[in-house]
Parts: sequence; structure tokens; C-alpha cells
Amino acid sequence: MKILAIESSCDETAAAVIENGTTILSSVVATSHEMHEKYGGIVPEVAARMQLESIIPTISESLRIFDTTSNTSMYERIQNNIDSLAITVGPGLIGSLLVGVETAKTIAMVTGKPIIPVNHVLAHMYANFVNSSHVIPAAEPESKEDNRWIPDQVRDDKKIQFPAISLVVSGGHTELYLMESEKKLTWLGGTIDDAAGECFDKTARLLGFGHGGGLAIQDAAKTFNVHNSQVVEKLPRPMLDKQNELNFSFSGLKTAILRETQKLKSANKWNEETIIELAYEVEEAITDVLVKKTLLAVEKYSVSSILLSGGVSANIRLREKLQKKIHDVCPNIVLHAPPIELCTDNAVYIGSYAFFRGEPMAWKNINAIPDLSVEVSS
Ligand code: KG4
Ligand code: ZN
Repeated sequence: MKILAIESSCDETAAAVIENGTTILSSVVATSHEMHEKYGGIVPEVAARMQLESIIPTISESLRIFDTTSNTSMYERIQNNIDSLAITVGPGLIGSLLVGVETAKTIAMVTGKPIIPVNHVLAHMYANFVNSSHVIPAAEPESKEDNRWIPDQVRDDKKIQFPAISLVVSGGHTELYLMESEKKLTWLGGTIDDAAGECFDKTARLLGFGHGGGLAIQDAAKTFNVHNSQVVEKLPRPMLDKQNELNFSFSGLKTAILRETQKLKSANKWNEETIIELAYEVEEAITDVLVKKTLLAVEKYSVSSILLSGGVSANIRLREKLQKKIHDVCPNIVLHAPPIELCTDNAVYIGSYAFFRGEPMAWKNINAIPDLSVEVSS
């Protein structure tokens, strides 16, 4: 079954053609990051206007890559090759969602193809179901120092074993799910305020890395030499108490980081070295919390696998730490993570989710739902 998937919930415009939920036939992502850099953040109206311009070229390109033989129109290609459409209906920015939803509905009306509404946050975890996803081996590191994540080692037993704990960690969400099959998902907990990605993004701005987000923090933190410094844990690891077992909170951490920057500035210690050290500490604090909560959920539900997904799951330190912890405390559990390019927003996992868990609906009944709930139990 070939699904044409469309995604436009935030500042990306993406289209992909996915076969049977696992094989990527094409994937195109257009982003307006440069524009947001100029404005110091995502301006919803700017994002939606740019998406309006790029949505048709993006869809056309995704169909052209997948079918180079014919010189036919976008509609003919859909008519001849595509079994169903899939569209992100929420959660997200209303203007951005509307661009994708109305385009997809129009295509469905014109071509008569079925259309599957998709929850963006739940869909993130299905990036683990596509063929190029990784199994991160919990193997003995080569040396005591070496617990680095090895990106391209893919084990034979790639197939996800259930039950699994799934951590979706993105710019807007930090959620834990129990996954008992490809279809059966139960929400276990999530952030009560800011998402981990938001904490990375706001900190990146505080440290002068502009719109670079978590990737900029990761790059700076990498250059910090732990062995040359006496690192004192200055930042809190919020909500690690028993009562708030599977919930997260990152707003207090964000405030602590702000206070730390102010302290450094007023003591005239704001320089490249201290900024790099702070970036390291931020990455350590956020990833410590994510790892501890994930392992708590693993313990509580005795699962066979862990699935990482969402933009923050691209973070190498998070992967390394989980890999190391699994090796130390639960070596039988298999850690799955998408390749880096499938962690941040794209349409591949939208198509994969639609295949495994989606239900087609009449196009007339499909609407953009900016605050679509991510708390599911089914
Ligand atoms: O999933 P995503 O593309 O969009 C949402 O659905 O929100 O996630 C974007 C988030 C941003 O907060 C970005 O800073 C973060 O993912 N991110 C990272 C890394 N790459 C992207 N955070 C930490 N480390 C990274 N390498
Ligand atoms: Zn996302």
C-alpha cells in the first residue's frame, strides 16, 4: 500500500511516499529556518505564508522522485500510483496546519483517494518502524571511556519487540507511552509545562546560538573538555521524585539556566569558555532527566524495547547515555532510534503511522485541530 503523506504542523512543509509503512519511496522537506533566524524565532504567520508557497512544489517533488518515468501531472501521478493520502491534523500551529489540511482535502476530493488524519506527536514514534531505523546495540563499549553511540550498527533483530516504552521528545512535547503492539498505545506521562526541546531552544538563544536550538547546544557541549575541568552540577534535575514518576517539568530548569547566565555576566565571567561549560551542563541536565524517566517507565512496565523519537532524540548524548544505562542495568532491552534525519519533522513517519494505526475518514470531516490531545489509551 502506497501512502502520500503530508506534514505542515510547525515551520516545515514535508511530503513523502511510503510503502507498507516501512519503505521510503521519497521524502522532501522544505523549511523556513533562515527566515525564522532573521526574526529570532518562529513567527506563525510567516511560517504559514511560506508553507502556502512551498506545499504544491513539495508534494509534486515527492511524487516526481518516486515516479520518474512519466511526464504526467501531480494529480495523475496520485491517481495512478497512490492508494491513500495521510495528513497531519494536529497538534500544531493553526495557520500551518490549515495549509496542509486544506491541500490534502482538495487532493482527496479531486482524486477520490481515501485520506487518513494523523496526530503529529503519536506519529513521531513510527519513525522507528521505517526500514532505515537503527537498533542501538547495548554492547560492551570498547573501553571504559568509550560509550559513544555507534550510529550505523544495525542488528539483525531490527523488528520491534513489544511491549515497548516510547519516549517522544520534541520542540513542543515530552511524552512517555506504553506500546503493546503497532496499534495499542497508552499515554503514561508528559511534561506539565515546557518541553525538553523548548528548553534546548530557549537556552540556545540565551547562550547566543540564535535559532540553532538543541543541535547548537550539542555542538558546543561536545567541545567542552570534562577531563580538564571540575564539573559541579549547578543545574537542577527536575521532577525526579517518586510522586511525579512519569511526568516532566523543564520550566524551572530554564529559569535556573537564566539565573546562571545572569550570575556569570554580572561577575564578568561571560566568555566562550563559560558558555561552552554551560551548554554542556544544560545538555547533561536535560538528558539526565530524560534517561531517568525512561528507565523508570521501563522498570515499571517490564518491557522488551525502548523507542526514541522526536527532534530531541537526534541528540547524541541522549543516545549514548541511554545506551550505556541499558548496558549496565537491563542488557536484554533493545534501544531503537530513527536515523537523525527522521527525528526532526518530516512526512515519512506521518505515512508510517497512517499505515499502522490510521483510520481513513471522509475528507469533509477532516479538520485542523491545533490542540489535538496526545493522551491516548487504545
Ligand atoms: O520534532 P521536531 O522537529 O519538531 C516538533 O515537533 O517540535 O523537534 C524540534 C526540536 C527543537 O526543539 C530542536 O532544538 C530539537 O528538536 N533538536 C535537538 C537536536 N536536534 C533537534 N535537541 C537536542 N539535540 C539535537 N541534536
Ligand atoms: Zn515534530
